[in-house]
Amino acid sequence: MTLLTLTRPDDWHVHFRDGALLAATVPPVAAVFGRAVAMPNLVPPLTTTTAALAYAERLRAAAANPAFTPLVSLYLTDHTTPDEIARARVAGLVAAKLYPAGATTHSAAGVTDLGRLDPVLAAMVEHDLVLQLHGEVTDPAIDVFEREARFVTDLLAPLCHRHPDLRIVLEHVTTRAGVAFVQAAGPHVAATITAHHLEVERSDLFKGGLRPHLYCLPVPKTRTDRDALLDVAISGHPRFFLGSDSAPHARAAKESGCCPAGVYTGHHTVLHYAEIFDRHGALDRLEPFASHHGADFYRLPRNADTLTLERAPTPIPLTLPFGPAAELVPHRAGETLAWRLQD
Ligand code: NCD
Ligand code: ZN
Repeated sequence: MTLLTLTRPDDWHVHFRDGALLAATVPPVAAVFGRAVAMPNLVPPLTTTTAALAYAERLRAAAANPAFTPLVSLYLTDHTTPDEIARARVAGLVAAKLYPAGATTHSAAGVTDLGRLDPVLAAMVEHDLVLQLHGEVTDPAIDVFEREARFVTDLLAPLCHRHPDLRIVLEHVTTRAGVAFVQAAGPHVAATITAHHLEVERSDLFKGGLRPHLYCLPVPKTRTDRDALLDVAISGHPRFFLGSDSAPHARAAKESGCCPAGVYTGHHTVLHYAEIFDRHGALDRLEPFASHHGADFYRLPRNADTLTLERAPTPIPLTLPFGPAAELVPHRAGETLAWRLQD
């Protein structure tokens, strides 16, 4: 097969940042995806419907493609009210994101006690909003490689029990335990999987030296975990779908003494996934994973048009512009992908 045409895909988890950076981050995503869920961990975070709507306008303006729809999720805090959820729904928001406070980049304003959020979660059921979870516990006593598995047993399982009708996405799942939990859960629990977590195992972060551009959260886990992600992604399971978690940080920050978490795939997201599915003999399952399962779970129509890829080399540049004064290093910079977007 040299041409691959699929229903236009959606990216259900991506970081665009804000301001002058949008000119770099939004157009490559808007050129490929029908919709993208923009994460609200800005400074300050998007904790109100008003702020989320204003950000969606900035994303639309930066996209320069009227066919692209940005979906901004609401940032949940200890102070989010059920009324805010009602407002979000009326305004057309489809999801809210829960960052445990301190779990990752710009999560300081996140939720400190999931138990106290129950009235808000009940409102999300009433107003049919999806809960997107950064699924890691934040207790510093818990080993960083164990934080997702502990979140699943200690917080996610009880949460599903308390709110059986709440639709939940375990974002960027990285563990066999997380995959198994979602598989065993009911129809209201799903997960996104990033391209880099389908490729990278934790040893790769230390291969020949410390690799800051592979550092992200949740941190990649063992080969066994990575293989569980691969198996389920190419299995056609309807509750696993594309969420790139493309998370740009300036090169100077990534290559500093304290590297922030995030892998940038945004210019080549769908090509990374195509190469991985192809390598595993599963090209026919790329379309459901990238274009069907997410829309179905979010209860949105699948995109009506298509995207065509061709088997032809795409070189990944060593760096890309990132605002007026910075650059970023894309995932697998300097390598060549086996697929290309057809003009
Ligand atoms: C994300 C970021 O940089 O905003 N970083 C990351 O490693 N994935 C935040 C997040 O999704 O955890
Ligand atoms: Zn993210």
